[in-house]
Amino acid sequence: MKKLPEVNESFEELYRMLIAPIKSKLMLTGIELKVFNHLGEPRSAEAVAEALGTHPENTRLFLDGLAASNLVVKQDGLYQNTPVAQAFLVGNASTFMGPMLAITAQTFFALDDLPKLVREGPPPPPSPEADMGSGQIWTQYAAAMANAERAGIARQAPEIVSELLEFPSFKKMLDLGGGPGLIGIAIVAAHPSMKGVIFDKPAMVRIAETAIKEYGMEDRMGVMGGDFIHDPIGEGYDLIWASSALSLAKDDMDSLTKKIYDALNPGGVFLVLHEGLTYERTKPDAMVLSMMPMALTGQDMRFDQGEIADSMLRVGFKSVRSRTQDTDWGPMDLDIGRK
Ligand SMILES: C[S@@+](CC[C@H](N)C(=O)[O-])C[C@H]1O[C@@H](n2cnc3c(N)ncnc32)[C@H](O)[C@@H]1O
Repeated sequence: MKKLPEVNESFEELYRMLIAPIKSKLMLTGIELKVFNHLGEPRSAEAVAEALGTHPENTRLFLDGLAASNLVVKQDGLYQNTPVAQAFLVGNASTFMGPMLAITAQTFFALDDLPKLVREGPPPPPSPEADMGSGQIWTQYAAAMANAERAGIARQAPEIVSELLEFPSFKKMLDLGGGPGLIGIAIVAAHPSMKGVIFDKPAMVRIAETAIKEYGMEDRMGVMGGDFIHDPIGEGYDLIWASSALSLAKDDMDSLTKKIYDALNPGGVFLVLHEGLTYERTKPDAMVLSMMPMALTGQDMRFDQGEIADSMLRVGFKSVRSRTQDTDWGPMDLDIGRK
């Protein structure tokens, strides 16, 4: 009699991987249809279908799928947002992550023809107008970035900075590549008197200016528009913060870290929060996988662990301390350089 093969592994992990895209499709569709806006309170599938003008039976099936994905709970036939959906997927909230999740999902389309990318390599480089670094494109992303900052790093940054021994003595800080400015605003607001500058592309700092007004920080904060690779970034700072912003300087990191060093007062602190790839560039998985589309299309701008810290030491920073910082995007490297 032929024997069945001896199997010591389970293929459950493979099957879970296969169905994972269905979860993301459900979430993105929920965002698109604004389903979560209607589920702050428990509601029936019929009530949701009526509010959205959708097919009743398929709406029920769809809501069951959202419940299976832990984005809503279903009890006694009524559906309601889970706390995470309520915090980040409701359309009118200032922490609504819908636009940022949708924009990020767009970048994954680059993998639609993954076999071709693997076989033939990256396509021709994009035109300068399509360059992710151009002010115009970033401007379109500004509102999405502002919400994502409020939802994530802008909550953490003041905690990180206020733990520094030098924090009480800081007078002026710079948020380099600060985007729509919420992180800089949160850091300055955590200090009784420190002033702050948001530096970014000119189109982006116009949006940061609006945020500064919205939070009533005009007397303590200003903006500088430019390209930090080529333009001056100001001087006399006690703190320079840069999160997820230095990728475009990767090819000549020392020039930028030297510019930052020169812009700091003696004893000043440079704080960088960035991905730092480890285990031969295979971890952290969230960083490796989310940036894979860009990397495979010829725009690999991911930093290795220690790459920025090494550059700081080369240009003269007296000391650099690094640690892993958990963020909503996955674990990142926090490098703290002192002049
Ligand atoms: C991914 S966003 C991060 C924004 C913010 N620091 C955060 O953590 O949410 C990167 C920002 O850096 C800015 N940036 C990138 N390269 C730049 C350059 N060479 N000059 C000025 N700003 C730049 C972009 O315009 C964008 O606003």
